[in-house]
Amino acid sequence: MSEPTKTSHCGGDCDTGRRGFLRDAINAAVVLAGLATLAPLSKLAALEVRPTGTVKYPIPATDSVSIDSSNEVILCRFGGEIFAFALSCPHQNTAIRALPGTKGFQCPRHKSKYKPDGTFIDGKATRNMDRLHITREGNDLIVDPNIAYESDTEPAKWGAALVKV
Ligand code: FES
Repeated sequence: MSEPTKTSHCGGDCDTGRRGFLRDAINAAVVLAGLATLAPLSKLAALEVRPTGTVKYPIPATDSVSIDSSNEVILCRFGGEIFAFALSCPHQNTAIRALPGTKGFQCPRHKSKYKPDGTFIDGKATRNMDRLHITREGNDLIVDPNIAYESDTEPAKWGAALVKV
């Protein structure tokens, strides 16, 4: 009995095809890794959570965005001002993400976009990102995650909720 004839569906170039696939997969992984390094979202750990519920953070040394997931605070230093934002989108409470660098924010659910100071640009949301009460204490910032200012109902407090550096 003779062996069944092996047929090639790739014209005898299967190894090259597999290698090409692997090469493409590796290239894609490198590109993704590069994108990840373009958008470092540094995690922020509170220096202290006080009995009053306020949270202490060090003043960021440069323009940057940091996220404290456990206290649901986004801290953004941009253009000589520091803002603390509620992590949840004002539209339907989805966790907001930062665009690479300090280019602002975008909600992953309905794509609402915001400037670095939280001002609404476009999308389904109907107001700016909610700013949290923030003050300076020496070289630290004190943020109260329980006091959020909404730009449509408290525009003056929303506008004043920042620390100048
Ligand atoms: S939940 Fe953010 S835009 Fe809808």
